[in-house]
Amino acid sequence: MTAEKSPLVLIVGATGGIGRLAVEAAVRHGLQVRALARDRESARKTVSGVEIVQGDLEDPATLGAAVKDIDAIVFTHGANGVRASYQDVDYGGVANILSALNGRRPRTALMTSINVTRSQGAYKELLDWKRRSERLVRLSGVPYTIVRPSWFDSSAGEHLVLGQGDTASGAVRREHVAEVLIQSLLTDAALGKTFELYAASGAPTADWEGLFGSVVSDAAGALDGVKDPQNLPLNKEPAPVREDLARLLAG
Ligand SMILES: NC(=O)c1ccc[n+]([C@@H]2O[C@H](COP(=O)([O-])OP(=O)(O)OC[C@H]3O[C@@H](n4cnc5c(N)ncnc54)[C@H](OP(=O)(O)O)[C@@H]3O)[C@@H](O)[C@H]2O)c1
Repeated sequence: MTAEKSPLVLIVGATGGIGRLAVEAAVRHGLQVRALARDRESARKTVSGVEIVQGDLEDPATLGAAVKDIDAIVFTHGANGVRASYQDVDYGGVANILSALNGRRPRTALMTSINVTRSQGAYKELLDWKRRSERLVRLSGVPYTIVRPSWFDSSAGEHLVLGQGDTASGAVRREHVAEVLIQSLLTDAALGKTFELYAASGAPTADWEGLFGSVVSDAAGALDGVKDPQNLPLNKEPAPVREDLARLLAG
């Protein structure tokens, strides 16, 4: 990502556990930050020293100001256990922001989760909607990186490891998730890639080109990550999802 002045990054979910750390990481790396928050006054208690813009991911009319003049986006939002909102927030929030861009293509980092392609049980609905949000980003034409963190655990190791194909399990610190999201905006080796993120014992990760270079790119125009199982067939997807994807492809 290059810009004559410091690039402006929109952090979606900026008041959340990962989002507020992403704000701090972005500032640390010299980016200008715009934090999206539903309640600007309450957001000031968790996010300080950056621009805060009011917006609700479920209300497209509120998102124009959020995306104005941005160079990059980091998505860290989530409906946080509110089952009725998975479609409207975890998926719909991405759809509405992409739509608000009106054809512009800022560098984008999307956080989803491990297990998005092998979900079952209580988390299946949430993870299917997160996987659908990944598909929107891949087809939208934005230069992207999709980060699927393993389980958040403050005692996880310092050495970061990426995986593909969504077959493993593990843990990662929230700070590391935030750092990887911001580093993915700054490192071209991360472009067009989807990967799971784990931590292991070993030396702290400092070689970001090397880390992102350890995984391969998604196929151009593909719906899913490069090594994902083909177990969410498009022809069985809900009609609104197929319509969203068709709109992106048309446009
Ligand atoms: N727990 C794990 O181990 C794990 C592992 C991998 C992935 N994940 C995923 O990580 C995600 C985020 O984690 P987190 O701990 O950072 O979540 P969090 O603390 O619950 O933060 C969620 C953020 O989304 C925002 N948000 C929700 N609805 C919104 C709306 N309608 N408009 C605008 N913003 C909205 C919230 O804003 P408000 O402040 O206004 O509520 C908040 O900033 C979750 O979705 C989870 O599935 C979790």
